[in-house]
Amino acid sequence: MITGIYPGSFDPVTFGHLDVIKRAAAMTDRLIVGVLKNNGKTPLFSTDERVNMLQEVTGDLSNVEVVSFSGLLVDFARENNVSVIVRGLRAVTDFEYELMMAQTNRVMEPSIDTIFLSTSLDYAYLSSSMVKEIATYGGDISKFVPSVTAKRIYDKINQN
Ligand code: PNS
Repeated sequence: MITGIYPGSFDPVTFGHLDVIKRAAAMTDRLIVGVLKNNGKTPLFSTDERVNMLQEVTGDLSNVEVVSFSGLLVDFARENNVSVIVRGLRAVTDFEYELMMAQTNRVMEPSIDTIFLSTSLDYAYLSSSMVKEIATYGGDISKFVPSVTAKRIYDKINQN
């Protein structure tokens, strides 16, 4: 039984994240999508909102669970019998930080490995920050996030 975790901020989830989730879910028996609670950044969406948005768009994937976590990823992974951490790599600019995280996590918990999925070319440029910026200026984000998520982003931005 292989349990994987795909951790991140997901503020908000994009088609790039969804692509990684679907591919990782096909490779694991159980995939936990782990939403980090307090990472020093000030998120647009609360943790619960980010979890709910992810649940909305992964409801059709039977082996995927969305949960939030705080503290060290390796501690949360250990508590949930995770054997593999999944991260998406968009471009070479992601690589240095991702490699450093993977190596640090492996020193802290040698039994858990990190695997990297190269993001599909369609989403290689995509980031949550860019989606938020486009939405702030009233731009069309329908090519970047699911329609239910787009609605929540516009609603949130209009509230602020
Ligand atoms: O989507 P992000 O913001 O790039 O995700 C970063 C995340 C959540 C994977 C990373 O910040 C993380 O794992 N934080 C938990 C705290 C931790 O374990 N830090 C040590 C990692 S070397």
